[in-house]
Amino acid sequence: MIRLSLIIPAAGSGVRLGMKTPKPFIELGGRTILQHTIDKFIDIPELGQLLIVASAQNIDRVKSLVSDHDRSDVDISVVEGGDERQDSISNALKFVDKRCDLVAIHDAVRPFIEKNVVEECISKAMKYGAAIPGIPVKDTVKVLNDEQLVESTPDRSSLWQIQTPQIFKRQILFDAYDHAKNAGFTGTDDSSLVENLGIKVHVVKSSYENFKITYPIDLKLAELKVGGEL
Ligand code: CTP
Ligand code: MG
Repeated sequence: MIRLSLIIPAAGSGVRLGMKTPKPFIELGGRTILQHTIDKFIDIPELGQLLIVASAQNIDRVKSLVSDHDRSDVDISVVEGGDERQDSISNALKFVDKRCDLVAIHDAVRPFIEKNVVEECISKAMKYGAAIPGIPVKDTVKVLNDEQLVESTPDRSSLWQIQTPQIFKRQILFDAYDHAKNAGFTGTDDSSLVENLGIKVHVVKSSYENFKITYPIDLKLAELKVGGEL
């Protein structure tokens, strides 16, 4: 049986959303966004470990939120995050159970991830070492220079928006984080660190459902979805 360690980074402050409450603790239909996200993974048979990353002042809050989950075979821990998302993951990696074959990283603020996407990422990561979900971009994307002038228009058919969960064989992710640390590299996702090792990352087609709650409009959408209006 494959054993999966899942890291959920929840230590951000939510600057772009602009609310006092950090995003993972905002409630949708009486449950926090973080709990909705955990609900999507807790029944996955491969799950052996769950590491939730929280800022120092929210560790106790997260501990009480996860206490209602009842899977005695899953080792659940709350660990402290860092200034940037990459620092939060880097710290969580120190606590990954060495018996896990795969490590998955999923944003606390993507509560609508679909089970089939998770399953396909697990199976592709087992087969190839690295798998991430994504969707083709819907808008035309342009590269701009410093003066806000268009430099080029990349062919849209090869552009994809990447989401989480990003799933890797454990040692590949450890090597990628070591390599990034030595090179002083900061990426906007975990896959970019793995790509820097020269490892091929497989992309699983996902859907718009798995959006990240980032701006107020995303929160509105999430409220409508949880309320069954969408
Ligand atoms: N995150 C984290 N540690 C950080 C920064 C972010 O664990 N130092 C987490 C967030 O809590 C979130 C996920 O990484 O679940 C994705 O990050 P993002 O959507 O950017 O959230 P925030 O960083 O909180 O938001 P913003 O960038 O608008 O401040
Ligand atoms: Mg952020």
